[in-house]
Amino acid sequence: MTTNRLVELWPAAGIRVRAGDLELRWIDDELLLDLAELAGRGVHEERAMPFETPWARGGAREIAQRVLVYQWAARTRVDRERLTLELGVLLDGRPVGVQSAAGADWPTLREVETGSWLGLEHQGRGIGRRMRALMLHFWFEAMGAECVTSAAFADNSASNAVSLRTGYEPDGRQRVVREGSEAVQHRYRMSRARWLEVREANRALIGAEVETEGVEALLAQLEA
Ligand SMILES: CC(C)(COP(=O)(O)OP(=O)(O)OC[C@H]1O[C@@H](n2cnc3c(N)ncnc32)[C@H](O)[C@@H]1OP(=O)(O)O)[C@@H](O)C(=O)NCCC(=O)NCCS
Repeated sequence: MTTNRLVELWPAAGIRVRAGDLELRWIDDELLLDLAELAGRGVHEERAMPFETPWARGGAREIAQRVLVYQWAARTRVDRERLTLELGVLLDGRPVGVQSAAGADWPTLREVETGSWLGLEHQGRGIGRRMRALMLHFWFEAMGAECVTSAAFADNSASNAVSLRTGYEPDGRQRVVREGSEAVQHRYRMSRARWLEVREANRALIGAEVETEGVEALLAQLEA
């Protein structure tokens, strides 16, 4: 459990978003180990590649170590210039994946791009769309975002479906290099005005009252 002393010094460590059996929370050391081991058991099928950096390929130990290194570095980037907030996803208290958001110059732009993964064993059961709906709720309702974006490779059906289901609007496409070859990503965007249109539908997806902790202190740090 994250200590009050840490939250005092680093307010992001106190972030928790809860809705019924679903929780998003700051990744402390214990949760990080669980998530690293979860990723080591598999994040995608061998034939698929949902990420620009193929971090989830290889042996279990190697993948788990990459998760540690990535998350240790991400912890340091909770600042106004290059805000990154990586939250662990727990279902009934069990770690199932990560939901992240990142954006430059937060006080001026108030825009973040979301990213996510679930352990293979937890995919395809509706957790992905619920956690995205909860993340959108957190960023628009609690953090005061003006815009949230996302991108998914054209061949990643589940990720594209999650963005459309939660109400993002298509925002073009981009060509990127994936494992040495050209690949197309679809871009998605949700403005605050769009959020207000789809908020109720997302509340229904979330399926429970949302409780947040730690937001005021984090905003004070980011906007000081
Ligand atoms: C992308 C991801 C987070 C989605 O979470 P999930 O829990 O598996 O997805 P859900 O069960 O909530 O399903 C969401 C939608 O995708 C559809 N879907 C799920 N798996 C699918 C599949 N394999 N093929 C096609 N559609 C699929 C569902 O029907 C649903 O659509 P709907 O809401 O219109 O009915 C998860 O699959 C994952 O972590 N994948 C590997 C990593 C990844 O791709 N990360 C995102 C990178 S952009």
